[in-house]
Amino acid sequence: MDFTGKTIVLAGAGGIGAATAELLASLGARMILLDVVEEKMKEVLSTLEGEGHTCYVCDFSVVESIEPLLAQIIKEQGPVDGYVHTTGIGAVRPLKMSKYDFMLRVMNINFFSFVEVVRCLTKKGSFNAGMNIVGISAVGAFIGNSTKTAYCASKSAMNSAVRCLAKELAPKGIRLNTVAPGATDTPMAKEATDYRDGTDEQKINAMRQYLGTCQPEDIADAVAFLLSDLSRMVTGTCMPVDGGKLTS
Ligand SMILES: NC(=O)c1ccc[n+]([C@@H]2O[C@H](COP(=O)([O-])OP(=O)(O)OC[C@H]3O[C@@H](n4cnc5c(N)ncnc54)[C@H](O)[C@@H]3O)[C@@H](O)[C@H]2O)c1
Repeated sequence: MDFTGKTIVLAGAGGIGAATAELLASLGARMILLDVVEEKMKEVLSTLEGEGHTCYVCDFSVVESIEPLLAQIIKEQGPVDGYVHTTGIGAVRPLKMSKYDFMLRVMNINFFSFVEVVRCLTKKGSFNAGMNIVGISAVGAFIGNSTKTAYCASKSAMNSAVRCLAKELAPKGIRLNTVAPGATDTPMAKEATDYRDGTDEQKINAMRQYLGTCQPEDIADAVAFLLSDLSRMVTGTCMPVDGGKLTS
């Protein structure tokens, strides 16, 4: 895989985002990072091979702020060759506390912002021929978890949107896919206060991932494959990277 001369926008400078940025930069890509926390992006930028990488602060909970920011980015950095959406919040909350404002915040950050970025980047002049897009979904979209209704719904929405957008954007030569990680060793996973901690459901879930916990690099490898020409006949689908969870 060779991304020399390609410009890739990557949202989310957390565990999976950092590993993906590092891999893509090592394969020659120029990275443009987006995150609400500037220090995280600066830290990731300092680890990247190559030159010309940059970052922009954005808050994906304010979906209306995305269009002007992307217009500025395209003006300053030129058209892009790829987009990776790793931005997400874990959002563990029981139904009785899952009021509309909470559901909306999760959907804004995990899903509506994804569609908005795709909408903006697929405008004429914003992308180069052969642009590829990858969203980070989750196996929870398929198996569901108690107390994760908002989270799992936002990831299912992303999988479903990609199936539609792949068809709509194929005439422009754009491919879109998602990667569905199983439990992955990142700050999000470590810091999550889980209402299911210690429950049978959680123990069974962990056992189902029979190859063990994923590392962020495992997810990054799948993203790079889906962004590359090696996957030129793959679009509109979801690739689980889940240590076997969906097969058990
Ligand atoms: N870690 C896992 O076990 C796991 C499993 C399945 C799916 N995922 C998904 O993978 C993706 C990356 O997860 P991670 O483990 O690297 O998480 P992480 O928390 O390390 O990274 C998420 C990033 O999103 C950013 N972010 C949060 N709210 C934001 C906002 N309002 N605006 C802009 N940026 C914002 C955070 O600052 C952070 O850098 C997420 O979408 C997550 O749902 C993770």
